[in-house]
Amino acid sequence: MEQKNYQRTTVTAALPYANGGVHIGHLAGVYVPADIYVRYLRLKNQDVIFIGGSDEHGVPITIRARKEGVTPQDIVDRYHSMIKKSFEDFGISFDIYSRTTSKTHHQLASDFFRKLYEEGKLLEKETEQYYDEEAKQFLADRYITGECPHCHNEGAYGDQCEKCGRDLSPTELLHPRSTISGSSPVLKKTKNWYLPLNEYQEWLKTWILEGHQEWRSNVYGQCKSWLDLDLQPRAMTRDLDWGIPVPVEGADGKVLYVWFDAPIGYISNTKELLPDSWEQWWKAPDTRLIHFIGKDNIVFHCIVFPVMLKAHGGYILPENVPANEFLNLEDDKISTSKNWAVWLHEYLVDFPGKQDVLRYVLTANAPETKDNNFTWKDFQERNNNELVAVYGNFVNRALQLTKKYFNGIVPACGELLEADRQALNELKEVKTKVESLLDVFKFRDAQKEAMNLARIGNRYITECEPWKVWKTDPKRVETILYISLQLVAHLSIAFEPFLPFSSAKLRRMLNLDRFNWDELSNTEILKPGYQLAEPELLFEKIEDETIEAQRQKLEATKRANEEAAYRAKEIKPVIDFSDFEKLDLRVGHIKACEKVKKANKLLKFTLDDGSGTDRTIVSGIAKFYEPEELIGKDVLFIANLAPRKLMGIESQGMILSAEDFNGDLSVTSLLRKVKPGSQVG
Ligand code: MF3
Ligand code: ZN
Repeated sequence: MEQKNYQRTTVTAALPYANGGVHIGHLAGVYVPADIYVRYLRLKNQDVIFIGGSDEHGVPITIRARKEGVTPQDIVDRYHSMIKKSFEDFGISFDIYSRTTSKTHHQLASDFFRKLYEEGKLLEKETEQYYDEEAKQFLADRYITGECPHCHNEGAYGDQCEKCGRDLSPTELLHPRSTISGSSPVLKKTKNWYLPLNEYQEWLKTWILEGHQEWRSNVYGQCKSWLDLDLQPRAMTRDLDWGIPVPVEGADGKVLYVWFDAPIGYISNTKELLPDSWEQWWKAPDTRLIHFIGKDNIVFHCIVFPVMLKAHGGYILPENVPANEFLNLEDDKISTSKNWAVWLHEYLVDFPGKQDVLRYVLTANAPETKDNNFTWKDFQERNNNELVAVYGNFVNRALQLTKKYFNGIVPACGELLEADRQALNELKEVKTKVESLLDVFKFRDAQKEAMNLARIGNRYITECEPWKVWKTDPKRVETILYISLQLVAHLSIAFEPFLPFSSAKLRRMLNLDRFNWDELSNTEILKPGYQLAEPELLFEKIEDETIEAQRQKLEATKRANEEAAYRAKEIKPVIDFSDFEKLDLRVGHIKACEKVKKANKLLKFTLDDGSGTDRTIVSGIAKFYEPEELIGKDVLFIANLAPRKLMGIESQGMILSAEDFNGDLSVTSLLRKVKPGSQVG
């Protein structure tokens, strides 16, 4: 792609749904990279705006409200302020953080739709949808439950069965029920308006597949797989009472589809920020539009929204959509409903003032090309071994030595030796190195380059040993510290997009007020004779206990979830007495018990079952018992279970044990002694 001559950049970050807090997955996937990019452009004195806001419509918000017995407005008010605060706390430097319930947005989204409608860009289609006659309303897919036609799970939703994971449509459900009134819904005709994506397919192919081969491979690949299939018209309106009313006649009780209005929110929020000049940021061909999103949003930002913009006309299209993959937490998928997440507001209570540590770790592990994993151990190691031992340590050495030998005044640079020249060369290169990576959205590698400069500084100071040289050649120490201080000043600038809080602190220590990006090519940011402020520690070690406490917290969550899942297990369907009678349960006396070789779960039992012949049973309880504990005990077993082979041993039945909520097994025993072979029933 040939580089266009852009004058300004509009950066957007996905509007989070206002029905929950912000967790590390959001931060790593969308907001930290977007913020790094924007801070970088600002440092380069480029014209840039950073647009954010809450996505306050959609069905999940109404479900949540109904569950809590409050209005959807209550829900979004609560979470909008919470989300906004989390972003502020973590230095996500939006120029505006507004919301899709704003007046400006309702107006703009409404106008947008009406224009498409009036110009005949939308298809009007009648379909049959489930309708709740008691509640007198059409039902969103999520409001319908029933039996899954595939796995017969009774609690499947109209859009998905959570048991077998299949996507469903509401009419596939067996015995559908409305979750609002509990009644059986009926199919009723309804009219909605569709965006004919199919009519734009060729245009999309040219625009993306030919025109944007530079997009990240995960983004390009996802677009390609969509565009290789036939696109279908997509409904842009819904029968729902929460959202922006559809502004055309005959559309009572209908609202705009949340994925229609939300991306327009980027535009509305820009308009709210810049009422007089917003159009320039969305319509001028020399404006560059960049969307930061997570991978589940790719189709909406690369296909649906561009088609909306194209159909409307007059708007620019995204120049790039650097979408990230997902971040896992301790090897499990982050999940709001399971509370498997590190919430920003909770992190700040446990780690006050350590926003940059989290920013650093999330960028170091950014899921840029594949899903990635956050672990508390890695968090601790990156803090202790990188932020403290490399960056903090170098800064501290340079500043403390300057304080000790020169009262905190920048010394003069004398004659240069080879080591000095090398350090200065590295310093001169950092600008282009970091730049070339940030320009192509490789935030992880860019941060590595910044850290590398601190490594170079550490090596330089260690090699030069100013503390030794001081006794024989104080002039030489002047040069060493002069160069070290220039490195420190460079670090404060190079790290500014990544670690804004620490950079600000460092600049205070350096008394540095100029800090634009171009200073990075200046080998004399701090002039000789310049008085530095008092040094402080930039980072501090995180102890094992602190990390252990976080792990415990997650463990407790995991246990609570397992227990909840266990409690939710439904009792199996009722059986007849005759079914029960088919089971032959008996008492067995354990004569011998041993581990099964090469099978760490299995124990082999020799039972006296009262028949006079020993019975062999293999059982998967080796993790919970030592063989010696069980020898001599009486247990219950199924005597008429068809034999089966386990690790080459024929197991003739099954010893009964109970499974605890956490999966632990406990063998059943009897309260009083009875003879082996006694029947149970
Ligand atoms: N709320 C959506 C989500 O969290 C993102 C909306 S992005 C926008 O997945 F473009 F619609 F604003
Ligand atoms: Zn199913």
